[in-house]
Amino acid sequence: MTDSPIKTSEQIAALKDLLTPIADREPGPVLLCLQAVQGHYGYVPEGAVAVVAEVCNVTRADVHGVFSYYSDLKKSPPPAISVRLCAAEACQAVGGRGLAAAWSEACAADPKLAAATGTDEPVFCLGNCALGPAALVNDQLIGRANVATLKSAVEAAQNVTEATR
Ligand code: FES
Repeated sequence: MTDSPIKTSEQIAALKDLLTPIADREPGPVLLCLQAVQGHYGYVPEGAVAVVAEVCNVTRADVHGVFSYYSDLKKSPPPAISVRLCAAEACQAVGGRGLAAAWSEACAADPKLAAATGTDEPVFCLGNCALGPAALVNDQLIGRANVATLKSAVEAAQNVTEATR
């Protein structure tokens, strides 16, 4: 369980300010509000469901239903560096599963790498099928990916993150 950034009345009020215009403007706004929460915090923190339910005038169960249905909505903060491997057919045909297994082994063998990249879920087609297996490291698209190119991209992303601090 992560420490929720939505605890105080001021934090709840700020989230309501973010979501109320969406709820007022759009029909069926629950998904849009959950996406807005994730866009703001990087995930949907504990406490946000109640606020979304209130501003959308639906039950918490309704919000939980939407939240649990869409796997792109996250319950915990994202890793510092996102590594997503394509699991769609064209990439599987050129070694995508082997890459996923090798990447898991590399993370298991290197706790720092595992901590920096977390356990991202696979993605289904990055539009780079001709250069599979494809991967996305943060927003960098990688073709003909292998463990070495992934590690290199992670290292580059870490350098960018450290340079911007
Ligand atoms: S199937 Fe992997 S990028 Fe399209």
